[in-house]
Amino acid sequence: MAKITASVYTSHVPAIGAAIDTGKTTDPYWVPLFKGYEPSKSWMEASKPDVIFLVYNDHATAFSLEMIPTFAIGCAAEFKPADEGYGPRPVPTVIGHPELASHIAQSVIQDDFDLTIVNKMDVDHGLTVPLNLLCGSPDAWPCPVIPFAVNVVQYPVPSGQRCFNLGKAIRKAIESYDEPLKVQIWGTGGMSHQLQGPRAGLINREWDNAWLDKLIADPAAAAAVPHIEYVREAGSEGIELVMWLIARGAMDDVAGGPAPTVAHRFYHVPASNTGVGHLILENKQ
Ligand code: DHB
Ligand code: FE
Repeated sequence: MAKITASVYTSHVPAIGAAIDTGKTTDPYWVPLFKGYEPSKSWMEASKPDVIFLVYNDHATAFSLEMIPTFAIGCAAEFKPADEGYGPRPVPTVIGHPELASHIAQSVIQDDFDLTIVNKMDVDHGLTVPLNLLCGSPDAWPCPVIPFAVNVVQYPVPSGQRCFNLGKAIRKAIESYDEPLKVQIWGTGGMSHQLQGPRAGLINREWDNAWLDKLIADPAAAAAVPHIEYVREAGSEGIELVMWLIARGAMDDVAGGPAPTVAHRFYHVPASNTGVGHLILENKQ
């Protein structure tokens, strides 16, 4: 049977991708940010997952505002880096896992979560920046990736509670897949940021860190946080954090198993307009 070995959480600021693509990672502005991910890269190399189930959001890139699925699962054999206005990022094509993705779609839809099946999709910074942060800039990503896109761009967006419950259903789906795969689930986006309006530039370090504490120790309480609190405390784009609850809901302790181990935790400001948070949780073997 497949097994969820760990969950990874990270922000996805596009300027991080631009810093990588234009050779600016050693600029003083960026050094502390990339330093915080050095332990993560070593961890990633050692952990050798067979598949990454990567929860992220599309920023009106693959899905324009003409068509906005709430939850979309990538079932294709591959996903190309998207052109977000400066040409596609020079990163590897993402290789999918159509068999496991189809199995998850079958199980999760039968569990009453209405997923959109996506057989062709380019992936934007929401997916490629987290891969860079954990895997560096290799010629090929280390394993197949199942992209799972969540609408956090156009209201109404799903609640934290619904995302958490979806994580439980995804766990059930993965653990019923009849092949001994080591699967990681990633929750990305956030933390506090607001890119628009009078409060543009808002970052809330205290709230971000308190939310991280809660996500680790009491995920059900983190899931109960209402939309209005994200928007008020973490800014309009802070709502991206509900995606982290999908990954957290898939961990062993939520299904009655032992609490996960914190393999790494990092927080850094500034990175463009965003409070960057990062966490690695491991299930006990
Ligand atoms: C920024 C952050 C995001 O999450 C995003 O999608 C776009 C921009 C930023 O901080 O600049
Ligand atoms: Fe974003």
